[in-house]
Amino acid sequence: MTRSPKAESDPWQRFLGPLLSNDTGTDAEWMSQVSLMALAQASRWRHLAPVRTTLEATAAALQRLDPRLEQTLFGCRFSNPVGLAAGFDKNAVAAGIWQVFGFGFAELGTVTALAQPGNPRPRLFRLAAEQAALNRMGFNNRGAAAVEATLQAQQLPPPGQRPLVLGINLGKSKLTPLERAASDYAVSLERLAPYADYIVINVSSPNTPGLRELQEETLLRQLVERLRGQQGCPPLLVKIAPDLADEAIDSLARLAYAEGLAAVIATNTSLDRFELSGRRLVQSGRTLAEESGGLSGAPLRRRALEVLRRLRATAGPQLPLIGVGGIDSPEVAWERIAAGASLVQLYTGWIYQGPELVPRILDGLVLQLERHRLPHLSAAVGCGLPWQDD
Ligand SMILES: Cc1cc2nc3c(=O)[nH]c(=O)nc-3n(C[C@H](O)[C@H](O)[C@H](O)COP(=O)(O)O)c2cc1C
Repeated sequence: MTRSPKAESDPWQRFLGPLLSNDTGTDAEWMSQVSLMALAQASRWRHLAPVRTTLEATAAALQRLDPRLEQTLFGCRFSNPVGLAAGFDKNAVAAGIWQVFGFGFAELGTVTALAQPGNPRPRLFRLAAEQAALNRMGFNNRGAAAVEATLQAQQLPPPGQRPLVLGINLGKSKLTPLERAASDYAVSLERLAPYADYIVINVSSPNTPGLRELQEETLLRQLVERLRGQQGCPPLLVKIAPDLADEAIDSLARLAYAEGLAAVIATNTSLDRFELSGRRLVQSGRTLAEESGGLSGAPLRRRALEVLRRLRATAGPQLPLIGVGGIDSPEVAWERIAAGASLVQLYTGWIYQGPELVPRILDGLVLQLERHRLPHLSAAVGCGLPWQDD
């Protein structure tokens, strides 16, 4: 990783950069767990003076408030288009403080109806040279009832009155057979709907056997109709895999449009190894072709963009799209928005680049609006205009 003078002054890069710049600096899962434990305490005690002061100082450094970046989509008011992707805060422990990091929205989960431990460790691997990660976590989470209790304990304002939009991403419990998937999602929805601005039907994780079969048109339609019929169901979104064939993407886009889904999120991690099949994991000595799990980060970028473009071409501009996969700079975020994403999400890029990435992207987007003489972000969505340096 090359380090700019700016990176030297960024505490994340200065302290964690050396640990993140190789595959075994520290165990990747352990590092996220420790950070999350600290964030959980901060969220729980955010109203106490010393915690509040620290959070306010962080927010002052990372938040960007600009009316040109605000959008209202599927009834939710987003203060900016950059969100935290699902999988980082699986148990919603830091739901009360994600806005402090400058995010306009955060997606909590994936939550399943039943608590489950996920796959055996190690199950998360850094591929530092490629700015990528391989994970086969397998929906480790405390289950919908415990997540409900966690959200309740944080005493969040109700949906619509919070400083950021909170989505909750739902998956199928591993023990539940595919034929009973709809009931499994429905149990989680019933518990968590009161806390969610939007709900995501996750049918695209590669680490739950059979889950991706739910992307098939008939099964997905049944699932959507079952959940939508439930009382108090928030706007419903679907998150899709990057490994779908073009025809499957087209049928999904048509289904989303016809069923009135609020948006489609593209994409989850990939089973494809792109050009990295022969890359060995330091921890196991095995190649990526031999290891199971989903690939995220920079190698996924091109495919995630292709899927987004295809969705846009089939569904048209009426269906909001959320772009995720390999976004790690203002240029890449702009490219995704110009290709049709109204919102973008970060995961792997945020880990490598650190919290400074969010304001860097937001500043970059505002600059591009000015350079292209666009009055508002919504005018940039699907505009097809390239990043302009000056
Ligand atoms: C460690 C890890 C865990 C993840 N867990 C989930 C999850 O529980 N649910 C989900 O929908 N996506 C999950 N994802 C996928 C991300 O939300 C995102 O779609 C994907 O990583 C592509 O974005 P990125 O390249 O910015 O990481 C996970 C990704 C990683 C790296």
